Amino acid sequence: MIGKYSGPVCEFETAGPCGIVIFGASGDLTSRKLIPSLFELYVRRRIPDNFFILGVARSAMDHDAFRERVEKAIDLGVKAIKPGQKQGFLRRCYYLSGQYNSDETYKNLKNLTTDLSEKYRTLSNVIFNIATPPALYKVIVEKLSINGLVEKGKTESPFQRVIVEKPFGTDLDSAVDLNQSLLKYLAEEQIYRIDHYLGKDTVQNILAFRFANLIFENVWNRNYIDHVQITVSEAVTVEHRAGYFDQAGLVRDMLQNHMLQLVTLVAMEAPAKFDAELIRDEKVKVMRAIRPFTDVSQPSAIIRGQYKEGEINGRKVKAYRQEPGVKTNSSMETFFAAKLFIDNSRWEGVPFYLRAGKALKEKKTQIAVVFKEVPHSMFVDDIKENPLEPNVLIFGIQPQQGVFLKYQAKVPGSKMCIYPLNMNLNYADYYGVELSDDYETLLLDCMMGDQTLFWSKKGIEFSWNLITPLLKEWEKSNYDNKKVKLYFYEAGSRGPVEADELIEQDGRKWMLS
Ligand code: BG6
Repeated sequence: MIGKYSGPVCEFETAGPCGIVIFGASGDLTSRKLIPSLFELYVRRRIPDNFFILGVARSAMDHDAFRERVEKAIDLGVKAIKPGQKQGFLRRCYYLSGQYNSDETYKNLKNLTTDLSEKYRTLSNVIFNIATPPALYKVIVEKLSINGLVEKGKTESPFQRVIVEKPFGTDLDSAVDLNQSLLKYLAEEQIYRIDHYLGKDTVQNILAFRFANLIFENVWNRNYIDHVQITVSEAVTVEHRAGYFDQAGLVRDMLQNHMLQLVTLVAMEAPAKFDAELIRDEKVKVMRAIRPFTDVSQPSAIIRGQYKEGEINGRKVKAYRQEPGVKTNSSMETFFAAKLFIDNSRWEGVPFYLRAGKALKEKKTQIAVVFKEVPHSMFVDDIKENPLEPNVLIFGIQPQQGVFLKYQAKVPGSKMCIYPLNMNLNYADYYGVELSDDYETLLLDCMMGDQTLFWSKKGIEFSWNLITPLLKEWEKSNYDNKKVKLYFYEAGSRGPVEADELIEQDGRKWMLS
């Protein structure tokens, strides 16, 4: 045990005054993530009294009905609520119903935001959080601009910022097109493209670990690292999102965004300063160096899977093809495992094995950096015959949040026996607090005008540039099982055995079984 944290409190000062307009206010994301996070920020005084929330959606509702929904969302999504905490927050919640493509809605919105801005003295600072289906992103920003609610370049107080939720496009062309449409009306500095993984403390800690310490930096390269594994295992099925998911698939849903972000954090070079533009540029450099999946001369490998019926934690689960909203012959992937290479001097020849799936045995996200075996050891006669297990450094992202290092140690006793030991550091135990919620961090960052944890235009386009040729190839064959193999796995299992073969054929094993 290395004791408990006794360093300084590390919190932002309170953000400045601002109003938050949420499009898609009657939707799932608003109740599950946005409202609970804003409430937590309010209770912890990270946002001031000078703020309001204005929900916009098509459903007919008055302010009170919306407040009831907000209250429900708080009750469901916030663990510890003290008596009296909700009232001040609920009072600041308002609602406007209207069609997203009608100027009328935006005229009403302008009048209401002007009144609320005066009432709550928000200095006309406003954040528009677009949490609607993606097909509406363009029209909402266009209408905001035409109706005088946003003006290009208003980055500082009185600021007008726009948060755009995921998915940002469905392929390269649509992402470029969406960027162009947004940039007609907004400056890049006003656009906050969400990837909620970047709001996780454990994800941000990868950079701190790598670049605020000397001990690992010198071995963080092809000379010492054998390979890297990233696993994002989820026990949830596609649930009520089947309509979206059966169009998207897991490569679009997880690889293009969250998992590529994890790859870039492990692989990037340190910029000279902790600065949004510099950090995001370094990530782009990594993405540009990833070998295309469709490079036939040296292909990276990828396999796709789909869940059959099964049981997860004692609960019977239908096959993906039987989920309501999914085509009965759907070939969409709910699992993938991939091997990719980064063609630059730090990483040449080091495979990155990635794996993600729905309806698996458990929820777990972790990154394992597996070091090379020692070339010689005085403790064993023939190292080739009796290799020592290599060092493994694991970043536990969730639900185990921490850093775990496997190294060789002497077992207590009279004989010199060497056996691997796991040094586990669990953040929650050490810091004595729960790590911050991803959306809280991101919403607060947007209020503070910090874009570090959001996708840049270039970043999002390069990520799609990498994934799109692969998706196109799959689509060309109409996701035909024979051409683009789909491996079935039982719900509640670890995924298809072919994912094991992908890594085992290289003489390696998944760390997380
Ligand atoms: C979302 C995906 O972006 O991330 C979901 O669309 C996925 O399919 C979710 O379940 C996972 O997020 P987390 O934070 O629970 O790992």
